[in-house]
Amino acid sequence: MSGSDVVIHKGLENIIITETTLSYIDGEKGILYYAGYPIEDLAKYSTFEEVCFLLWYNRLPKRKELDDLKKNLIENADIPWEIVDFMKKTPKNAHPMDIMKTAVSALGPYDPELEDNSKEANIRKAIRLQAKVGTITAYIYRIKEGLDIIPPSRRLGYAENFLYMMFGKEPDKLSSRIIDVALILHAEHELPASTTAALTTISTLSDIYSAIVSGIAALKGPLHGGANEKALEMLKEIKTPERAEEYIKKALAEKKRIMGFGHRVYKAYDPRARIFKEYFRKLCEQKNEWTMYQTAEKVEEVMINLLGKKGIFPNIDFYSGAVYDMLGIPSYLFTPMFAMARTSGWTAHVIEYLQDNRLIRPRAHYIGQLDLKYIPIEQRE
Ligand code: CMC
Repeated sequence: MSGSDVVIHKGLENIIITETTLSYIDGEKGILYYAGYPIEDLAKYSTFEEVCFLLWYNRLPKRKELDDLKKNLIENADIPWEIVDFMKKTPKNAHPMDIMKTAVSALGPYDPELEDNSKEANIRKAIRLQAKVGTITAYIYRIKEGLDIIPPSRRLGYAENFLYMMFGKEPDKLSSRIIDVALILHAEHELPASTTAALTTISTLSDIYSAIVSGIAALKGPLHGGANEKALEMLKEIKTPERAEEYIKKALAEKKRIMGFGHRVYKAYDPRARIFKEYFRKLCEQKNEWTMYQTAEKVEEVMINLLGKKGIFPNIDFYSGAVYDMLGIPSYLFTPMFAMARTSGWTAHVIEYLQDNRLIRPRAHYIGQLDLKYIPIEQRE
């Protein structure tokens, strides 16, 4: 495409490419809904399994439907031994997201319905995939730590089972509820780069596994996943609340970005950060360890004083890393955990998009030369 009146939407910013009933964000007010339900209510009353049902079927389940889904997730949590074997053989320094991406990609051909893009088959595949990404994430941890893998339990719920496969014992109530809420908060968020990548892939009528591989690949980059790891590093570097103000002012004077603050869509407090903060407080209370919480609160206060008027507030990543750290989860697993939760949202978007599919094919504005004369290679100087 060429011409002088072309408007370029770099990064597709503010371009609406589809309709959705999956989530609604009001960035000015700091509001998030999943399929019509406020995120605060889902975090308070719901479970990750119920949110998965909500995203896939666009309504809350009845008791029997929820029980069936839970059973289905448990029954499908195993992954083929060849894939476990491959995961074990990846180079020691392999990026966890590369292991996850390749494991999910390898799962595709094992699914008997891989090429069936009907809504019903894709929901069945979404359930199988969701069941397996939890196992893959926990296995990445076991393998990275040089520990034997722990097969999924046949009894525990999704969040509890994840912690069980990681640490080999049934988690306490607060820890499993925190993971459950973390999964709910990361499940869906409209069309960030990863979901857009998944939609681009499915819009060619590819398959749902390939679409999720695209989502995982896009989430790997630090501009999308990974800010919580950096926010945690910063809190550990600051160490105490007394050092927070000086640290932040110095970093801002050096034009550094403070990780866990600011958002492309939210220009108010990210509602997910508020919920994470509350669970961070509960965890500190349980462990009677307050230094990191107080340091984080001070950083938040200083940042809001300095940059709140520019619409910069804590985002989901500010408190999540600190919470995971207190649960004993290493930072390399934070982005795979994000992908594990977001598989529900990615698959739901893929299924929704296919109901009214349109090949995603944007244009680029050509600014190179035209009509150049082809010179044979022997004559090029
Ligand atoms: N620290 C310091 N200044 C900031 C920050 C920050 N974290 N975020 C934005 N700004 C400033 C930026 O310097 C710019 O200032 P000026 O107008 O003077 O040049 C202004 O705010 C606007 O910045 P922008 O880059 O145009 O805003 P954006 O909407 O493109 O940025 C962002 C969004 C998330 C990339 C950015 O806020 C950022 O880099 N934050 C830190 C990384 C982070 O926490 N990422 C996680 C995002 S939430 C993930 C999720 O929802 O899944």
